[in-house]
Amino acid sequence: MILVTGGAGFIGGNFVLDWIANSDEAVVNLDKLTYAGNLETLSSLSGSAKHVFVRGDIGASDLVDKLLLEHKPRAIINFAAESHVDRSIHGPEDFVQTNVLGTFRLLESVRGYWSGLPADQRAAFRFLHVSTDEVYGSLSPTDPAFTEENTYEPNSPYSASKAASDHLVRAWHHTYGLPVLTTNCSNNYGPFHFPEKLIPLMIVNALAGKPLPVYGDGMQVRDWLYVKDHCSAIRRVLDVGKLGETYNVGGWNEKPNIEIVKTVCALLDELKPRADGKRYAEQISYVADRLGHDRRYAIDARKLERELGWKPAETFDSGIRKTVEWYLANGEWVRNVQSGAYREWVQKQYASEVKGAT
Ligand code: NAD
Ligand code: TYD
Repeated sequence: MILVTGGAGFIGGNFVLDWIANSDEAVVNLDKLTYAGNLETLSSLSGSAKHVFVRGDIGASDLVDKLLLEHKPRAIINFAAESHVDRSIHGPEDFVQTNVLGTFRLLESVRGYWSGLPADQRAAFRFLHVSTDEVYGSLSPTDPAFTEENTYEPNSPYSASKAASDHLVRAWHHTYGLPVLTTNCSNNYGPFHFPEKLIPLMIVNALAGKPLPVYGDGMQVRDWLYVKDHCSAIRRVLDVGKLGETYNVGGWNEKPNIEIVKTVCALLDELKPRADGKRYAEQISYVADRLGHDRRYAIDARKLERELGWKPAETFDSGIRKTVEWYLANGEWVRNVQSGAYREWVQKQYASEVKGAT
């Protein structure tokens, strides 16, 4: 079996669902269930013998040691992290705690387990660390996209904490020989995305008749990948990736934020027109920019294509349509994840800018 951490979050949850649908191998899913972890995402797996959920922290060494000995996974995929840049600006400590210290403790538990395995299992074992393109910093409009050779220049508390975790993973390979793989992916979107991030926030606010808060001039560029394509890339790297290597994952879909927001509005105009006949784009509201806001990210995913034969299956047009349709069909999931903690966050982040954003 495999051990997935953070498997109740957005990407981890999609990964667990896809894995169980496509493989006979069981998953142990270790997740702390922070505000971002939602068991609702995994409700279709209830009763499945292929999914063992354990609530816990990747930094809880005793628990992780016990889980490793009990389940003897052949691989670990580490999704667990604090992942939201805006939250990292308001409160960086949780990011250092989980992304840096948590990853360190997890690596130490895994090293202990791995070094006690018989030689053949030790050789076959994999630790795949899921990371982000944000570790490379910000690009100018004319810079080439990030390759695996780019230097690390993280700018936010989030990206700095992820960069630190990537360095730890690299060092555990170089120093102890731990068989690791690292993926650095661009912005994901798709089903089960917590509505604090750009795309789901815009869909949810639009449908609720609330303002659509665009930071600064809205011309910051992100490179978007449909979440299921990220999951297929991770499976590919896990299967045939070269030990100690890093792989950039992206969809060749660079877009300014304002274009994303207008695309979401246009899809909603088509699929669920406003009752008053007006356009959703009328809800767009420019608000103060994010502190230290990175201007542009872009991923060069040619290494993954050339060496491991991976390509995304979705275009942006097909993926964003599926995503909007999913949110329209899954209002109950959205309502269930909008807990009191979620409402408090939205109040804190947008209260001074967008009245009534909660
Ligand atoms: P998410 O915030 O939706 O989910 C994170 C999950 O980790 C949650 O279920 C949470 O409960 C769990 N978690 C947090 N701290 C934990 C801890 N100490 N121990 C155990 N579980 C803990 O994040 P996501 O968007 O699914 O991102 C998953 C991973 O992918 C992260 O490492 C992130 O840095 C990386 N990533 C995300 C994106 C993106 O666009 N979302 C892009 C590239 C890389
Ligand atoms: P986000 O989804 O938070 O991902 P990241 O910061 O990791 O790229 O934000 C994507 C982009 O959208 C980013 O440039 C910030 C911008 N943004 C807004 O303009 N308004 C919002 O309300 C949010 C959440 C993000």
